Amino acid sequence: MKLRLLKLNNNNFSGTIPLAIGNLVVLQDTFDVSHNSLTGEIPSQLSKLVMLQSLNLSHNSLSGHLPSSLTYMTSLSTVDVSYNELDGPVPDSPAFRRAPAEWFVHNIHLCGVVRGLPPCFTLGTPTKDDRSKRHKVVVIAIIPSVVVFLLLFIFIGAFRKREKYTVPVDNNHNKEGAFCILNFVGRDVYKDIIEATEDFDVKYCIGSGAYGSVYRAELASGELLAVKKIHLPDTEGTCDEQPFQTEIQTLTQIRHRNIVKLYGFCFSPRCKFLVYEYMERGSLGSVLRSETAAELDWVNRLSIVKDVARALFYMHHDCTPPIVHRDVTSNNILLDSEFKACVSDFGIARLLNPDSSNWTMLAGTRGYLAPELAYTMRVTTQCDVYSFGVVTLELLMGEYGEVLISILSSSPVNDSFVKDVLDRRLPVPEGQVADEVVTVLSLALRSVDNHPESRPTMKQVSDKLCVVRTPPPSLPSIDALKFSDLMTVEI
Ligand SMILES: *[C@@H]1O[C@H](CO)[C@@H](O)[C@H](O)[C@H]1NC(C)=O
Repeated sequence: MKLRLLKLNNNNFSGTIPLAIGNLVVLQDTFDVSHNSLTGEIPSQLSKLVMLQSLNLSHNSLSGHLPSSLTYMTSLSTVDVSYNELDGPVPDSPAFRRAPAEWFVHNIHLCGVVRGLPPCFTLGTPTKDDRSKRHKVVVIAIIPSVVVFLLLFIFIGAFRKREKYTVPVDNNHNKEGAFCILNFVGRDVYKDIIEATEDFDVKYCIGSGAYGSVYRAELASGELLAVKKIHLPDTEGTCDEQPFQTEIQTLTQIRHRNIVKLYGFCFSPRCKFLVYEYMERGSLGSVLRSETAAELDWVNRLSIVKDVARALFYMHHDCTPPIVHRDVTSNNILLDSEFKACVSDFGIARLLNPDSSNWTMLAGTRGYLAPELAYTMRVTTQCDVYSFGVVTLELLMGEYGEVLISILSSSPVNDSFVKDVLDRRLPVPEGQVADEVVTVLSLALRSVDNHPESRPTMKQVSDKLCVVRTPPPSLPSIDALKFSDLMTVEI
């Protein structure tokens, strides 16, 4: 039940994929059974793995259709079913629509939404003869199938009610009156966490943000967690538990390589805390402020920008309804040991304060908030784009300093040379890295436009970041480039 990753590839397993696979609901990284001799159909139970990111069923002898319920697998980013004997339509979901055709090749006949696959077969106009023959067949076939269908419907309906593609939660009311929703099973995690942090002793505190302080909790079992204890104004009685729990549950199911995993939430009369995956290097902000900032070279910094863009793109464009972060700052971007960046605290703003009319009192960090929030309470995805721009500028400049403040307050910095404002702890970038730095800088400047409608969307940002382009030849090289040059040319 606790398995997070399962790789059985390159073996000699035969038979069908067991239906019970659907019980491994916390499987979240990889399920790989490629290069075996599996036969039969792909069980629709697979779609209960709503956190799974990568599914590899390639090089087997699986047959039949791809179950349409695979669209429930909202975290899926790779699905390789190549080299099987599948046919029929590919389910329609954003993950499949973006998938490359090579994940579907060498099957009997797959068709549909994937670019490069044929569209699904639609009946042409049959000849008269054909038609009357078909009529008879259709009538004979239709009656029993309707009956079977109805029965099936009733059966599935009854079955579905019980099984609603949710993660089993540990509804853990312990003797201190604490209540936890966590996707680990069967322990008093509340007690473990209180013990591991010696009841939130400052010596375990590793940071703090708009909503609370973060503690490092190493459980007796060896598991390392980041626990965010929330400062909340007194919300007793105002917290409507049901929608709150539903929402927490949605957030704990989100799996994306650039979003910090939220394992769950505990609240007791004494305290409330969120339980996260632990990220070794801590926040981007703290790394930039530390002496080790030079370890973050230009290549690392560019890849951090792309990571953050991917996370925001996912939440804005792949989640329905879109999730707005509302508090993107360098302190909410966490780095792992390889400098992979993950955005933390997604959706928490709305969760902690569903009454959006006064959210600015609680949420958001000054200096990263979009200016329109001063006169409108409407929080949109374009507010996140602004904060993304600020963080990107901070990362390129190495600090949240005067230059950044003048850019944000629209005081002209046009005459400044770009190379003078880039982080001086690093050498001036060269070659292709320099081209990319210039592209990213130009995107960041457009993202902090005062007018939300002039900012690019996260989709446009991601598209631009995906392809390396050389800046137009009219643009001076990075040694002579001024901010005014970036304002006039669109890269
Ligand atoms: C799936 O597994 C096969 C064989 O093990 C491998 O060649 C392929 O790259 C994998 N697909 C993905 C998308 O990782």
